[in-house]
Amino acid sequence: MRIAIPAETFSGENRVAATPETVKKMVAAGHSVAVEQSAGAGAMIRDQEYVAAGATIAADASAAGLQADMVLKVRAPSADEISTIRQGAVVVATYSPFTNPHLRDYADANFTCFALELVPRISRAQSMDVLSSQANIAGYKAVLMAQEYYPHFMPMLMTAAGTVQPAKVLVLGAGVAGLQAIATARRLGATVEVFDVRPAAREQVESLGARFIEVESDESGEGSGGYAKEMSDDYKRRQGELVAQHAVKADIIITTALIPGRPAPVLIQPEVVEQMRMGSVIVDLAAEMGGNCPLTRRDEVVNHAGVTIIGDSNIPSRMAADASSLYARNLFNFTALLIDDAGELKIDLDDEIIASTLLCRGGEFIQSQFLASPLRQGGAS
Ligand code: NAI
Repeated sequence: MRIAIPAETFSGENRVAATPETVKKMVAAGHSVAVEQSAGAGAMIRDQEYVAAGATIAADASAAGLQADMVLKVRAPSADEISTIRQGAVVVATYSPFTNPHLRDYADANFTCFALELVPRISRAQSMDVLSSQANIAGYKAVLMAQEYYPHFMPMLMTAAGTVQPAKVLVLGAGVAGLQAIATARRLGATVEVFDVRPAAREQVESLGARFIEVESDESGEGSGGYAKEMSDDYKRRQGELVAQHAVKADIIITTALIPGRPAPVLIQPEVVEQMRMGSVIVDLAAEMGGNCPLTRRDEVVNHAGVTIIGDSNIPSRMAADASSLYARNLFNFTALLIDDAGELKIDLDDEIIASTLLCRGGEFIQSQFLASPLRQGGAS
């Protein structure tokens, strides 16, 4: 099979979909791999390293993509990129299917598209779970970014000039990103409080040495597939009060609360931000879906009443080397499901992982729920 790895063109995207490690495995399995020139530069990988792993270097995206049976990407093809990929090719990437305006264009180009963010959270698929591998990075880096803006120490320090109190960190949402943020903040010596709508998160939070705070209610936020569900208005009101009480005392808040396909829930109201100490920092990981704080501006750092609010929507790209290595392994493990022992494409729709991720095939868009998503706008579809 001919496999292409184009350079990512999305603004600010430094990651790449394959590394020399995964290219080597693809070549060993009998495939030919073409990597676009400088595709790995943002992830600190030289073209020569891909060549040493057995790839050829293509001068541009078309030179790689128009010959390929399978194209591996980080971001779904943009309108311009669609014409650089052979009609009928398999394109594996993350598609942001709830918001992507080009979904129907991919079907019109007769692509067979697999959206990696739809890999189900089941044990067999853990090695392909790009949301987890990238959220892990986002949680870690979010704490370091917060520290960058926070004008105090994180740990408690006892010095000849007196004692410095440890930073108080509040983490909202104890999923993959939140748990890594907790672990990182604890390693830096902060005290950490955590809120999540899923009571099951308590044990994991406490095992990391953080304090779990919860709304007193019979309602559980446990939804399907390991994700949270939307809560009742009464729960949300009580949650707002509880979070506000703890937020005004926090020095750093990392928010990670999201329910797939929904705008991010508002957890920190502007009046709460205004009561926080000057110099406090909020890192809003849900910025891409509107943010957990209405003051968050996507891909901007704003200062409101002395509080810094960071709305970076692509934090993994800031650690592009490790983010690419993990993403590329996830992707390689996924493609192993699509290729049979003879090296030919096989699409087994009885496999839950394949069926959940397949967006379009044979000119037909299969997962129509995404075409109907109220969060999608614009595009030719
Ligand atoms: P996840 O689904 O594993 O965790 C989300 C957690 O939030 C779950 O534990 C859920 O129960 C909780 N939650 C949902 N609604 C809540 C509410 N109203 N109050 C409190 N907790 C609530 O997701 P994961 O993988 O940890 O990602 C978290 C967020 O980080 C997502 O919004 C994701 O899009 C975002 N993310 C952002 C990146 C960036 O660069 N900004 C990179 C990677 C992920």
